[in-house]
Amino acid sequence: MRWTPATLLFFAFAVPSVCAQRNSDCLVCHGQQGLTDTAGHSVSIDAQRQKTSVHGSLPCTGCHTDIKGYPHPTRVATVNCSVCHSDEAKDVSASIHAQAAANVCTACHGDPHAIVPVKDPQSPVYALNIPRTCGSCHANPQMARKFGLPNVYSMYMDSIHGLALTKDGLLVAASCTSCHGTHRILSHTNADSRTYRANIPDTCGTCHAGPKASYFAGIHGQLLKAGDTDAPVCSNCHTAHQIARVETASWQEQTSSTCGSCHKQNYATYLDTFHAQISALSYVETAHCWNCHRHHDILLASDPHSSVAPANLIATCGQCHQGANASFVTFHPHADPMDAQSFPALHFAAIFMNLLLLGVFGFFGLHTILWFIRSAFDRREGGGPSGGA
Ligand code: HEC
Ligand code: HEC
Ligand code: HEC
Ligand code: HEC
Ligand code: HEC
Ligand code: HEC
Ligand code: HEC
Ligand code: HEC
Ligand code: HEC
Ligand code: HEC
Ligand code: HEC
Repeated sequence: MRWTPATLLFFAFAVPSVCAQRNSDCLVCHGQQGLTDTAGHSVSIDAQRQKTSVHGSLPCTGCHTDIKGYPHPTRVATVNCSVCHSDEAKDVSASIHAQAAANVCTACHGDPHAIVPVKDPQSPVYALNIPRTCGSCHANPQMARKFGLPNVYSMYMDSIHGLALTKDGLLVAASCTSCHGTHRILSHTNADSRTYRANIPDTCGTCHAGPKASYFAGIHGQLLKAGDTDAPVCSNCHTAHQIARVETASWQEQTSSTCGSCHKQNYATYLDTFHAQISALSYVETAHCWNCHRHHDILLASDPHSSVAPANLIATCGQCHQGANASFVTFHPHADPMDAQSFPALHFAAIFMNLLLLGVFGFFGLHTILWFIRSAFDRREGGGPSGGA
């Protein structure tokens, strides 16, 4: 062996400390299976997994800092991971999970003696395993009740992201932490949170750059940018945890009424039209709001670039109505028969139809009443049905 400065240093510091506290000294007892404390809890650890873990080269006392040798106290302090991982610890203590478990690090990272690199498929925080790890608490009905949270895990698992990640193993699909972050997870009511309403387009936009750009080019994105929180964000139309493929018929149905939850008047008039009525019969190839208005880059109707501006209507209607011409597009998709000023012909036609309906029902109603009176008279004169004949 050659004596270099490094080997000198090794013998000066490392050897004495290793001799003073070798993991094998602890494993003499703790490496045995079935060792328990006086209360009957297991104090055995899997020596082999500990050795091959990411912390395999640390002394046991690197984490169990209040143990100086044997005999050691029967109760020792909770391990403080922040001694070595101060950045992660700082983020966690600022997060909503700060108090979620006695040792919150191990709630996500698993068995403290078997921690592997986070990119190892065996790690509980490896991308494909994250939903299950978060689900260990967020699919727990008791926890959900205690904190008033929905069972987000099962909602997510049936979504397009959940299926893509856990069934197809698509690593680029959104897992819980893609939207929420890892250590500094905050409530969605906190303005710094990635899931705070105004931040959602940027969060989804980390992967969906195209929809994000067109959303901000449209009226809804413009309003949000100007600080108007009445504007819809991605999750209003797509939800957060039950995101479906956009061709899904049930999603399309629901989304027209989502538009309608803010645009009540336009929804009501839409429902009166042919387009909505065939859609109610589950014929989804019909015109939904966004077939005419576009979906992300919706513009003000008064904007000449809008898909519903007079100059663009032939093209917009023409997507489905081949040969649509100037006279075809005079059909008004939001005609309101109660509005005499904007739709005089429709208004008076509607009044005429209503009067006709009233007249017909009124005539037959009167007819029935008179008939009833007449038959009552007839019965009295004839002595009633039983006394007759
Ligand atoms: C001679 C056997 C023996 C040796 C050597 C030993 N321990 Fe223990 N250890 C025990 C027993 C027994 C318990 C259970 C304590 C009890 O309830 O009596 C225990 C408990 C523990 C606990 C849990 C304490 C708690 O608060 O629940 C830790 C941590 C621990 N030992 C770490 C170590 C480390 C680190 C070493 C090496 C420096 C070590 N032990 C050496 C027998 C041993
Ligand atoms: C990366 C840090 C870390 C290292 C290294 C480590 N432990 Fe632990 N150990 C923990 C944590 C965390 C707990 C769980 C209790 C707590 O939070 O304090 C624990 C608990 C224990 C317990 C109590 C029984 C149990 O499983 O909960 C024993 C015994 C124990 N460790 C022994 C050892 C021995 C022996 C070594 C060395 C071979 C060792 N530990 C190395 C972090 C560590
Ligand atoms: C809510 C779950 C959760 C909690 C709690 C948690 N972690 Fe993590 N941690 C993760 C996830 C997920 C990753 C993987 C990030 C990735 O793949 O980039 C990770 C990654 C890490 C890494 C690798 C480096 C990095 O920052 O990406 C370290 C080190 C780490 N965590 C330590 C800790 C410590 C220490 C604590 C406690 C103070 C802790 N974690 C608490 C989920 C958690
Ligand atoms: C005595 C210092 C020390 C303590 C205490 C400690 N670690 Fe580590 N940890 C390390 C070192 C060194 C590494 C390997 C180098 C690296 O990748 O950062 C590591 C790696 C990790 C990794 C893998 C990081 C990656 O990039 O894949 C995780 C996760 C982790 N530690 C979690 C914990 C948790 C949880 C605790 C508490 C139970 C803990 N550590 C306590 C020193 C420590
Ligand atoms: C595609 C992004 C995305 C994914 C993936 C995601 N979330 Fe969320 N999550 C959000 C948004 C956005 C909110 C804000 C509230 C809302 O819009 O419903 C939220 C809210 C929450 C809430 C609070 C619910 C409430 O109503 O108070 C919890 C808890 C939660 N998420 C946990 C999870 C867990 C656990 C996973 C993985 C199983 C997950 N999330 C996956 C985006 C996501
Ligand atoms: C140890 C159990 C536990 C684990 C594991 C866990 N959580 Fe939580 N989580 C909680 C508890 C408890 C709360 C509620 C805390 C409160 O309201 O004070 C919470 C709250 C949340 C919230 C805030 C909900 C809101 O109001 O917007 C989100 C988001 C969240 N968790 C996401 C996650 C994600 C993502 C993971 C996995 C990386 C995860 N959690 C892992 C216990 C856990
Ligand atoms: C006002 C409702 C609404 C908002 C807000 C919204 N979307 Fe959409 N999105 C839709 C509709 C409707 C479709 C389906 C369009 C179609 O089938 O032609 C769609 C389609 C999509 C698609 C499928 C690909 C595509 O572009 O057609 C993705 C991905 C998507 N949206 C993501 C997002 C993201 C990310 C955001 C936020 C930046 C967002 N959406 C905001 C209604 C909305
Ligand atoms: C980590 C990247 C990532 C994040 C963050 C993300 N997504 Fe996705 N999303 C994907 C991938 C990948 C797919 C495609 C999955 C597939 O095709 O199986 C997808 C699919 C979708 C679809 C279905 C598109 C279609 O063609 O039908 C919609 C809608 C969607 N995401 C909306 C959102 C919304 C809203 C958010 C934010 C709340 C979000 N995504 C966050 C990666 C992400
Ligand atoms: C068949 C095409 C078509 C469909 C389907 C449609 N619209 Fe319209 N919409 C138009 C046209 C054309 C205009 C412009 C008429 C005008 O200048 O008032 C318009 C105008 C609007 C306006 C702005 C002007 C006003 O009346 O306040 C809103 C908001 C609107 N529509 C929302 C919706 C919503 C919400 C839905 C679905 C429930 C929907 N539209 C369905 C074609 C359509
Ligand atoms: C969360 C509420 C909300 C939802 C959901 C929503 N919008 Fe809007 N929308 C607004 C607000 C606020 C404005 C701007 C004020 C206004 O002009 O009505 C706006 C403006 C518009 C305009 C321009 C109105 C004009 O005066 O020319 C159209 C068109 C429109 N939205 C269509 C839609 C369609 C289509 C959907 C569904 C895909 C939808 N909106 C979903 C809130 C919403
Ligand atoms: C996404 C496709 C789609 C778009 C866009 C669309 N429609 Fe329709 N429309 C339909 C379908 C499907 C029917 C019912 C089947 C049929 O009669 O062609 C229908 C029926 C109609 C009818 C009643 C039946 C008829 O053919 O006379 C009128 C009027 C009409 N649409 C006008 C319009 C106008 C005006 C626009 C543009 C502002 C428009 N539509 C845009 C799909 C569409």
